[in-house]
Amino acid sequence: MSVSAAGGPEVGERPSVRQLLAPAAARLAAAGIDTPQLDAELLLAHVLGWPRARLLSDSDTRADDARVAAFQSAVERRASAREPVAYITGRRHFRRLELEVNPSVLIPRPETELLVAVALGLPSATRVLDVGTGCGAVALALKDERPDLHVSGSDVSQEALQVARANSRRLGLDVSWLHADLLEGVAGAFEVVLSNPPYVADSERTALAPEISGHEPELALYGGPDGLSVIRRLLGQLQSRTRTRVVVLEVGAGQAQRVGALMRACGFGSVRSERDLAGIERVVVGERRA
Ligand SMILES: C[S@@+](CC[C@H](N)C(=O)[O-])C[C@H]1O[C@@H](n2cnc3c(N)ncnc32)[C@H](O)[C@@H]1O
Repeated sequence: MSVSAAGGPEVGERPSVRQLLAPAAARLAAAGIDTPQLDAELLLAHVLGWPRARLLSDSDTRADDARVAAFQSAVERRASAREPVAYITGRRHFRRLELEVNPSVLIPRPETELLVAVALGLPSATRVLDVGTGCGAVALALKDERPDLHVSGSDVSQEALQVARANSRRLGLDVSWLHADLLEGVAGAFEVVLSNPPYVADSERTALAPEISGHEPELALYGGPDGLSVIRRLLGQLQSRTRTRVVVLEVGAGQAQRVGALMRACGFGSVRSERDLAGIERVVVGERRA
């Protein structure tokens, strides 16, 4: 390999994977990105159409001019505009699935996998609705892991539903999609309602990372003055829909006790919570006593 004294490519020579990654990671670190090496690798793997592990085994392979330009543009989007990697690559892993995402949907978070894990124990053939499905992450992962369940996903955003539908077609997962404002006008009896609703309090807006506040949809994030406005409406609607026996909600840090009290007030007499890997009470489960 012909390398200049500084370790970069000779003039006129195409850069290798290794020679592309090092300055990109340095650029991302200088821009204040927390995971510069990982992000550089994810972006380069995406541009090359490779699995990330191949960057290591084929680190001396040289990239053509078009790919070098595409990579440099992706790194710049990440560094200067603080665009999330998932919006640049258009893909995000969630449980066993690789999902398509774009800026009209929230990027699925690892902690939301707990919502799916809690639902894995449901009895066979239960009818489940994922309210505020976004790209369909929860509904699709549940259908993937429990094909016997009847799974539907709903959202008030038509753009989000388009992404969810595209994901279900591509993955071949049979989920029904509904356009609705929470449960307004939703026909059919769902025994279980799951939701990762918007729950960021208005007062927390300024504390969010620029990747979130500057790029993710407001509709997916904010839940009013205390973050619980959408949850209050949803539980209020469930109060009279007594065929729904179980409600499972993802909540923000510090919200679990208040959400549990709201569930009890709406007829879910038995309430428990599940902690995420960081030890935060992340999922609240309410059940109606028979
Ligand atoms: C926090 S995101 C969750 C997305 C996805 N379920 C996930 O976990 O990655 C909340 C979702 O709720 C939707 N949403 C917000 N208000 C809604 C409403 N009134 N009725 C239905 N969906 C709503 C948003 O469009 C967004 O897709």
